[in-house]
Amino acid sequence: MTAMLTDPQEIRGAFAAEMADRPKKLQRHVKRVELGARHLAAVHELDRDVCVAAAAGHDLFRHCSDAELLALSRHYRVPISRDEEDAPIVLHGPLASAYSREVLGVDHEIILDAIAYHTTAHPDYTPESLAVFLADKIDPRKVQADPGLAAVAAAAEQDLYAAAALFLERRLSAQLNSGRPLHPLAVASRNAFLRRMP
Ligand SMILES: [Fe+2]
Ligand SMILES: [Fe+2]
Repeated sequence: MTAMLTDPQEIRGAFAAEMADRPKKLQRHVKRVELGARHLAAVHELDRDVCVAAAAGHDLFRHCSDAELLALSRHYRVPISRDEEDAPIVLHGPLASAYSREVLGVDHEIILDAIAYHTTAHPDYTPESLAVFLADKIDPRKVQADPGLAAVAAAAEQDLYAAAALFLERRLSAQLNSGRPLHPLAVASRNAFLRRMP
């Protein structure tokens, strides 16, 4: 039986050890997300250690193929919806969260939820989870590749809910325009964040 991990700094250490054998490119992305989450935590006066720990563990399974994600999700009893069967990439968050709880012994609901829903966001997201979500989406490398994200990065300095709504609107519009399915959690999150905007 693994000891339960409740301290965000210890949780971050467990994630760092786990990430050590992941592809280098993924490790560099995760480091940038940690820095971004630390920055947004400072700007918005959030719990920095919680933000950085969730950032450290958010992409533990981002390198897996669709087939691997489906198989591992079944193994760790992650519920798989029709929407996720259509787009298994979404499972890398819920899978990382389930693995963190069951294998690493992570016992911290904010961190586990931030990791689980970092692809779609969640209507009940805390500011800490939103900071991690946004730090992932505005990774400077991603902004370089898609300059439209600069507006999301600028908004994140002012208001996390407005920035997340803006990000989700961009992505949902792109998915609608190209005829791809929308994930219901992304739609519900966008609506919830609109209501929270100043
Ligand atoms: Fe991810
Ligand atoms: Fe990521």
